[in-house]
Amino acid sequence: MKPLTLTRFMIEEQRRSGVLRPELRLLIETVARACKTISHSIGKGALGEVLGSLGSENVQGEVQKKLDVIANELLLEANEWGGHLAAMASEEMETIHRIPNRYPKGEYLLLFDPIDGSSNIDVGLSVGTIFSVLRAPASASGREITEEDFMQPGATQVASGYAIYGPQTLLVLTLGTGVYEFTLDREVGAWKMTDGPLKIPAGNCEFAINMARHKQWSPAITRYIDERMEGETGPCAKDYNMRWTGSMVADVHRILKRGGVFLYPADHRTPGKARLRLMYEANPMALLIEQAGGAANNGLDRILDILPTGLHERVGVVLGDKAEVETVAAYGHEAM
Ligand code: AHG
Ligand code: MN
Ligand code: MN
Ligand code: MN
Repeated sequence: MKPLTLTRFMIEEQRRSGVLRPELRLLIETVARACKTISHSIGKGALGEVLGSLGSENVQGEVQKKLDVIANELLLEANEWGGHLAAMASEEMETIHRIPNRYPKGEYLLLFDPIDGSSNIDVGLSVGTIFSVLRAPASASGREITEEDFMQPGATQVASGYAIYGPQTLLVLTLGTGVYEFTLDREVGAWKMTDGPLKIPAGNCEFAINMARHKQWSPAITRYIDERMEGETGPCAKDYNMRWTGSMVADVHRILKRGGVFLYPADHRTPGKARLRLMYEANPMALLIEQAGGAANNGLDRILDILPTGLHERVGVVLGDKAEVETVAAYGHEAM
């Protein structure tokens, strides 16, 4: 049987669930189209003069790569005129981007990390685009959208996903009814379903963590990793593997397909200090992981329950195999 295209999958989903609105379908189509263009740009690499850094820094003090800015612009341009959005926010922009008055406005809010894993761009390894869709609060109708309107817990996301630009370009999507993977068929320019509904395989003894940051870990994280490092003589009775790509998208994708656990814990020494951003990295990934039968917490509590206080708020992230993620939280609560 021919694989379903993304378009057909969403139209059938719309008919089946009666919940997926045509505006949300168009929004996802638009994001997916922008990801095709980003994929094309990344694929050119040095030949397209898209590699390297700009002189600028983003709001979090990171040096921006050319592709961080190119991908941000592509996503803004693609999503501005469709009429389904009220505003957007991104890792690469200090504040929100409202839909200009020359275009009609819709009820959705889109957040994105235009290029995740930026440090991998110039060496030709996998990077991705992460996105999250919220609905603007009803109270916002008829007035200008503010940052405050974005401050909703991740559990309210109506869709989330990522594109991964690797050996193939893939799109992994949830509309709240399971997780599906689509592969970009470059010859016809269509996304075709190649896997799903994804279910995280349990019991794969693999973790992904930046070991060089161990001084930042809490006693609970240290206990969890130390036990796994004991291998077959430890409580897990198995030798573990470690994987770390420097692209959250790639590490999370491997976990969705093969199992295991991803950890980027908060810095135990400084309250509030963490690497990953809640609204456009942790939340969309947490929704995908939960939809695939896994769990996601900040070392203690469920990520999707956190009420954000700022667009660029950072959070500790532990996600993947449900039993493992719950073990980390149990160790965290015991240590309190
Ligand atoms: P970004 O490139 O969007 O700034 O995000 C990078 C993130 C994430 O993708 C990855 O897991 C982590 O940073 C890598 O951190 P290290 O540099 O500590 O490996
Ligand atoms: Mn960055
Ligand atoms: Mn990122
Ligand atoms: Mn990024």
